[in-house]
Amino acid sequence: MQNNILKNNIDEVAPPLSSPFLGRPPANVAYSTRQGRMLLGKSDELLGDGSLSRFEGKVNLIFTSPPFPLNRKKRYGNETGDSYIQWLSAFGPFFKKMLAPNGSIVIEMGNSWEPGAPVMSTLALRALLEFQAKNELHLCQEFIWQNPARLPSPAQWVNIERIRVKDSFTKLWWMSPNQRPKANNQHVLQEYSKAMKELLKKGSYNSGKRPSEHNISKTAFLRDNGGAIPSNVLTYANTQSADAYQTYCRENKLQLHPARMPSELAKFFIKFLTEPDDIVLDPFGGSNTTGAAAEELERFWISIEASEDYIKGSRGRFGDRITQDSFPEV
Ligand SMILES: C[S@@+](CC[C@H](N)C(=O)[O-])C[C@H]1O[C@@H](n2cnc3c(N)ncnc32)[C@H](O)[C@@H]1O
Repeated sequence: MQNNILKNNIDEVAPPLSSPFLGRPPANVAYSTRQGRMLLGKSDELLGDGSLSRFEGKVNLIFTSPPFPLNRKKRYGNETGDSYIQWLSAFGPFFKKMLAPNGSIVIEMGNSWEPGAPVMSTLALRALLEFQAKNELHLCQEFIWQNPARLPSPAQWVNIERIRVKDSFTKLWWMSPNQRPKANNQHVLQEYSKAMKELLKKGSYNSGKRPSEHNISKTAFLRDNGGAIPSNVLTYANTQSADAYQTYCRENKLQLHPARMPSELAKFFIKFLTEPDDIVLDPFGGSNTTGAAAEELERFWISIEASEDYIKGSRGRFGDRITQDSFPEV
């Protein structure tokens, strides 16, 4: 694809010597940083036409939030119904081709509701199941991202008729062609609770038999492992009203992306499933939350986004880290 905002010549960028971007640049570069490339285009086309062939078998993590199957179409337009299921599943072979042998795919998907009725749609679940089964992927673990700051919705059933409670989580399916993809929960340890810190200080434990039949010894749980192992329910409030991205979009009169995820969510999976200098790919980049998180964690990243407007806004996440800029007019 040729477009006047694209510049494929990224010679002036000085990537680190270990950079996977040394040599021929990928096509459709909208902007670059030392660690990554934002590509303008449709991921099905760019992944299918060989534009990214030099990264095949090298991507350690595909972390992405595809357009959700919505009742109400968002600006970028989503597939609906069964055609959504087929559309998502068709990305599987492209994703598998890009993955390193021990790589992971993490797909975030929100809930959706049947139009005009207080009943949930099973479409998101069916789409994930079809994607996993048809592409012969293992479901390594299911995660829930709970957003306590989520506004009550669906409004008709929650606020007006008061017959449902607010829908405040999305699912993330961690999948891989490999049953044991690269992962290390020691990279995502969380601060111990106050009670646990006190227990570690006290040095003794309320031992004995638990209702669960577990027999807890006096010294169980008394080793300081540097933090608590997280659960698969991740709680992050999605409220960054004054972050650099929003400030940049407001100052430049650019539309805020309507479906951004919190940076912490991307960081959790990047830390858990990759190491520095690994490659992270987000084929539905949006405001490039994934790329910015990977950049901060010193991973390489490639993001693909079909909307030029969202790409323009996403520059605000990188400030002066952008080494080659195709949008000088903003
Ligand atoms: C749910 S949003 C991603 C939001 C992103 N995780 C963030 O935090 O900003 C999905 C994005 O996929 C983009 N998109 C839809 N179809 C696409 C395609 N075929 N190729 C590339 N991007 C696409 C949409 O424009 C939208 O920005």
